Amino acid sequence: MKVRKAVFPVAGLGTRFLPATKASPKEMLTVVDKPVIQYVVEEAYDSGIRQMIFVTGRTKRAIEDHFDLNFELENELEVKSKKELLGVVRRIKPDDMSCFFVRQEKPLGLGHAVGCAREIIGKEPFAVLLPDDLMVNDIPVTSQLIDIYDKNDASVIGVQEVPLDQVERYGIVQIDDHKRITGIVEKPKANEAKSNLAVSGRYIFTAEIFDALSEVTPGALGEIQLTDAIQILLKSQDAYVKKFEGKRYDCGDKLGYLKANVELGLQHDELGSEFKDWLEKIKI
Ligand code: UTP
Repeated sequence: MKVRKAVFPVAGLGTRFLPATKASPKEMLTVVDKPVIQYVVEEAYDSGIRQMIFVTGRTKRAIEDHFDLNFELENELEVKSKKELLGVVRRIKPDDMSCFFVRQEKPLGLGHAVGCAREIIGKEPFAVLLPDDLMVNDIPVTSQLIDIYDKNDASVIGVQEVPLDQVERYGIVQIDDHKRITGIVEKPKANEAKSNLAVSGRYIFTAEIFDALSEVTPGALGEIQLTDAIQILLKSQDAYVKKFEGKRYDCGDKLGYLKANVELGLQHDELGSEFKDWLEKIKI
């Protein structure tokens, strides 16, 4: 079956980004001139996916509005013949793209958020993209994962090698010689980690992940971890890693977000060269 649907879990509280995220979604923070969520939706679209499912929560209304028609704005731009800007606005949601919104009533973890999409996904394989991880590459990272899914008909997790002293920040996977996952551990200590392959915010899952999620025992705060569900899935199905090509920015973190703005600002067609001159002037 083809991967036709993508899930974007956007119901987290974004506490690492306070005070910005008290009333506004962190996914709507802009990198140069586009909200983070738009980059990730574009990645899914450029990977051939047309059905976008957002798992949202309180304070996330702006995400729905961003992907909705804004008749007054479009009318105004049309009347004033601002064709270029009209194109910019219309490209946010191309006509052949559908958006679905599901509420996660309480932020009970990433696994729980993915589980909220079960009814919309049904029995199909699907992609999960975490908007915190902004990926930049000519061949979209999600399409690199879909290639591996198509070859094996099995779940795929996007990974990147990280320095050993950083493994404590990530889910770390162990693999065999065929790139099959043999184990996954959330935030291991450097001396206990079995590899330096870090889970990096992009996944393709078979629908069986939902059964695995329903078997997860919630943690102390009621949180259901996606990592635990993957571990359960491995008992009945193979899953593979894809060491993807591309640059990753952690936009859920203030420093990662600043780096994304600087690097993508430098690459921006209109602003790049002036921004570079200015950065050189202020260099300390
Ligand atoms: P994070 O733990 O990185 O996001 O979850 P967070 O909770 O929003 O951020 P901090 O740590 O408090 O700053 C990873 C992804 O899972 C989503 C988040 O929105 C983010 O995209 N998520 C997390 C949910 O949708 N629901 C949850 O209950 C938890």
